[in-house]
Amino acid sequence: MRFKLLCAVIIVLALYSVSYAADFANGPADSITMPPGNRVSQTLLAGDKLVTFRSWLDIPYVKNPVEPEYQRLNIYVPEEYFHGESINGYTAKTAPILMPNGVGGYMPGKQFIPANDSRHGTPNVALYALSKGYVVISPAIRGRTLANGKAPALIVDYKAAVRWVRHNKDMLPAGDTEKIISDGLSAGGALSSLLGATGNAPEYEPYLQAVGAEDERDDIFASVVYCPITNLENADMPYEWVFNGVNTYYMGPAREMDDNMKAASDALKAAFPAYLNSLNLKGYTLDAEGNGTFRDFVEGLYIASAQGAIDRGEYVTGLDWLTVEDGKVTGMDLHKYAVWATRMKAAPAFDSLNNGSFENNEFGDKHFTEYSYTHSTAEGAPIADAEVIRLMNPMNFIGVKGVDTAKYWRIRHGAKDRDTSLAIPAILALKLRDAGFEADIAAPWNVPHDGNYDLPELFEWLDGICKK
Ligand code: DHB
Repeated sequence: MRFKLLCAVIIVLALYSVSYAADFANGPADSITMPPGNRVSQTLLAGDKLVTFRSWLDIPYVKNPVEPEYQRLNIYVPEEYFHGESINGYTAKTAPILMPNGVGGYMPGKQFIPANDSRHGTPNVALYALSKGYVVISPAIRGRTLANGKAPALIVDYKAAVRWVRHNKDMLPAGDTEKIISDGLSAGGALSSLLGATGNAPEYEPYLQAVGAEDERDDIFASVVYCPITNLENADMPYEWVFNGVNTYYMGPAREMDDNMKAASDALKAAFPAYLNSLNLKGYTLDAEGNGTFRDFVEGLYIASAQGAIDRGEYVTGLDWLTVEDGKVTGMDLHKYAVWATRMKAAPAFDSLNNGSFENNEFGDKHFTEYSYTHSTAEGAPIADAEVIRLMNPMNFIGVKGVDTAKYWRIRHGAKDRDTSLAIPAILALKLRDAGFEADIAAPWNVPHDGNYDLPELFEWLDGICKK
């Protein structure tokens, strides 16, 4: 007993230490064609469980990389699979493959590395996944600040990584390549949704060929999407549908919107119902004032979130945007919500009038909406190529013939998130459902712009779909 305890203590002390695993003589890993020096073995404490896994690092996933530092991936495999053991009901053959991306702010994303996450005080999603028997394959991905990283580079890379995994499936030590799951938050959530929506869409082929991606399928099984900054060319309108009338914004120090911004807010708010109705979502519409069944749906997400908080005893009383009677949330006021949540971005929230947003930069310092292009305050600012704009939006591919959209979706947008309107993930979920896919959407209580904060629930959901 003492000896066991001593061993455990030694292992815990060795946390984060890395040792080279020399003995692969009996494992299927021998067949993998990667430099032996890149194979490492590691043990980390995930909650109260020690998780040992082997890693293969920095494997190029395209043949003609244009940004070789980024177009590479890491593979992480739980140790048990090298000994014929199972974890959480999975074996080396059936283990799902989680492919998280580390993209944020449309910046380049490094490989997502299993570790403890000090911000949430939990294992991060990669380490948690390993503890639950998932194989983790994390690609680095190009982003807007690289010479060759503008749109649509990020989705080209994510797809190329999926293709590499499928192409090398017989060499992988473990993992079911029919159970690939994407995961990301914010711009990375947008990317996760784009990967999930656009499986095998032929429009990306020339880009994939240019970087030397494998000739393989790039559809995936499921998409995990946190607070997606997506549907960019239409996101300015629902932002104003929520925040119109709130004129102080908090991107940096508190500032007041100027007259151009206020005019944009009014025009974009007024334009939203026509856009929403043009989607022909079954059962969801808006009238000219922005009221109707779609508004009820979005408000219903906030109401369900607040009700959950009340039922768990986490609710803070005195929120003037919610009507609560006898412990039941019976209604909400979206405008009062906006005042309470505060406006983060000036109008237009994404395609800035000064052509200076993250998203303008992602498109090569260009506008990407007709409104901001025609009202630009940046003299001579061009508009991005229409096809590139199209390739960045998952909405354009869901339910389209010849495209293999992921069957399962889990979409989360915190009830306190104001980086984009909750209408954006709501529209994504409704479009997916209309096309026959399963989309689970919620707005977790008290959660700001964030992701991977609910790992036990996430993996319960993932296990549910993977073990069906
Ligand atoms: C991210 C956040 C934003 O508000 C935005 O406009 C784009 C990206 C992010 O955190 O990734």
